[in-house]
Amino acid sequence: MTAVGDLVILPSQIVPHVSDGATLRVLYTQEQIAERVAALARQIRADLGPEEITLLCILKGGFLFTGDLARALDGPVHIEFLGVQSYGDEMHSSGAVRITHDLTRPIEGRRVVVVEDIVDTGLTLKYLMNVLAARHPESVHIAAFLEKPAGQSPVRPDYVGFSVGDEFVVGYGLDWAQRFRNLPYIAAVVR
Ligand code: IMP
Ligand code: MG
Repeated sequence: MTAVGDLVILPSQIVPHVSDGATLRVLYTQEQIAERVAALARQIRADLGPEEITLLCILKGGFLFTGDLARALDGPVHIEFLGVQSYGDEMHSSGAVRITHDLTRPIEGRRVVVVEDIVDTGLTLKYLMNVLAARHPESVHIAAFLEKPAGQSPVRPDYVGFSVGDEFVVGYGLDWAQRFRNLPYIAAVVR
């Protein structure tokens, strides 16, 4: 166990540059994440073919996954951003989704891959799929870095990085009240 300021990391493998009074347990390391993202990129390219793929980054949580996926994908890639806010600063899904930043280009006729940080209840994705369908893309696939099986989402992602249990996780884009998004690993908040 390591203590850095008032932040405790279990097991101790990465020294964080935050000291926000939380105890974190590392679930997936930076190396495990890099390997998994490379495999997902190969799978996505194999499934969708050599044509241009539009990665639709769901802000804010999808920003690191999108950046890594974009660099791991061979062939032509466009990047778009859609900002949604689904939680406020709570640890539980409110079910209310709000668009905070809209697309700047049409996605009509495009091969879209929605890039999300995590699917929990799936309410965010369900809402998003309706919003996107109205804009007539050629196809929409969903890549979620994490999935909480306990959430029993009505919308299933086509590509999933890792499954996590019914715990609150941070890092690699995911926040707790806007903190910890910059951690290069995925960790569960112990307290
Ligand atoms: P859903 O609508 O319940 O599927 O929740 C999806 C959104 O809630 C995600 O895109 C995240 O922004 C957020 N979220 C859900 N679970 C967690 C978590 O464990 N840590 C951080 N954010 C989460
Ligand atoms: Mg999110």
